[in-house]
Amino acid sequence: MPAIVSEWLNILLRWTHLIAAIMWVGDSLLFMWMDSHLEPPSRPREGDVSGELWMVHSGGFYELVKRKTLAPGELPKTLHWFKWQSYTTWLSGAALLAVVYWFGGHAWLLDNAVSSLTVGQAVALSAGSLVAGWLVYDALWMSPLAKKPALAGLVSFALLVATIYGFTHAFSARAAFLQTGAFLATIMAANVWRRIVPAQTQMLAATRAGQKADATLGARAKQRSTHNHYMTFPVVFCMLSNHFPSMYGHAQPALVLTLFVVFGAAFKYWMNFRGRTPLLVQGAGALALLALVGLTASPAKRGGVGVGGATSGMGVVSFETTRGILERRCWTCHSAHPTNPSFPEPPAGVRLDDPERVLALAERIRVRVVETKTMPLGNLTGITEEERDTLGAWIAQGAKGSKTDWR
Ligand code: HEC
Repeated sequence: MPAIVSEWLNILLRWTHLIAAIMWVGDSLLFMWMDSHLEPPSRPREGDVSGELWMVHSGGFYELVKRKTLAPGELPKTLHWFKWQSYTTWLSGAALLAVVYWFGGHAWLLDNAVSSLTVGQAVALSAGSLVAGWLVYDALWMSPLAKKPALAGLVSFALLVATIYGFTHAFSARAAFLQTGAFLATIMAANVWRRIVPAQTQMLAATRAGQKADATLGARAKQRSTHNHYMTFPVVFCMLSNHFPSMYGHAQPALVLTLFVVFGAAFKYWMNFRGRTPLLVQGAGALALLALVGLTASPAKRGGVGVGGATSGMGVVSFETTRGILERRCWTCHSAHPTNPSFPEPPAGVRLDDPERVLALAERIRVRVVETKTMPLGNLTGITEEERDTLGAWIAQGAKGSKTDWR
């Protein structure tokens, strides 16, 4: 695909995806908030009322009454549904996954240090696991186990951790984080499509026919929408994680991601219930956050070598030596005119064929190449451990040099 076409597809899809996701997650947060702030009716109200709520916004007052059911004659002419936000988010997200990771090929999806999958195998695994994830999750929550939500929740969490572990051992860590987000978001969208919307359709049909709606469908829909709600914060983290190599580039990416899932869900719970949050949830969330901060602050680098360990024994590394490594391993992408066809412009605007830029970027080079080993992208240019350590030594020695050193 010509780079400019993929750039346009990318920006249009990302823009659509973000806007749809804001609407979907925003709805989820607002409805959950409204449910948790309903008060008993302040005056007699018609029908099967579960509560009322007053709000001020947009230059006026909103008086909201929630009813569990409606009598047949009471069906309004216009009834608003909330489903396209979810479908649009999923469809644009799936397209984005395909454009960036599947058609982007090896560079984004794979890492030779992690697995030896081919691009075809990785794409099959990425797509297949989205479908399989929903089938397993749905079967679990349709089974008798769903009657014991705590146990079913624990089993679901264990399966998710195993999935995260599997992803981080198949894909590049960066892709594994995104894949986990896509995996959870697929379950969320399928919950809306296959369980929540059908339950509401059935409720509506029953109301029209003057019959009692099947309460189990309604209860299941509520259960699924609660699951969706608690998945939102972890999913948003997965989608943003690509900007933070200290997260996905950590030596233990599966652990980092698992801890964030725990923290994200616990934090959402606390936002909903504040002082009524069980100690177990508060403790788990706080511990996960502390562990996460501790883990990412520790300078362990991927591959197990401590920073400084391999670099301290080295002699003085010249700026000229550094140049050689950058030329061999980075310039195909990070130069004024990249030769890598995927990048018509130097990615992230980073040019490493200019000595002044290299001197200014030394700290980022250390983080990306030595500490998190997230550059070169997918190690497409085959940088060696020794070269990483040489760059690390040059930076540890003060990243010394001047533009006249490069001839
Ligand atoms: C195959 C192309 C490719 C190669 C080769 C490559 N990079 Fe990158 N680099 C990228 C892309 C794409 C981004 C933007 C996305 C990102 O930040 O992960 C990037 C971003 C960066 C950034 C800026 C982001 C930040 O975190 O500050 C730095 C610094 C960087 N690369 C350093 C290097 C160094 C040093 C090398 C060589 C050892 C290298 N890259 C090799 C593709 C490449």
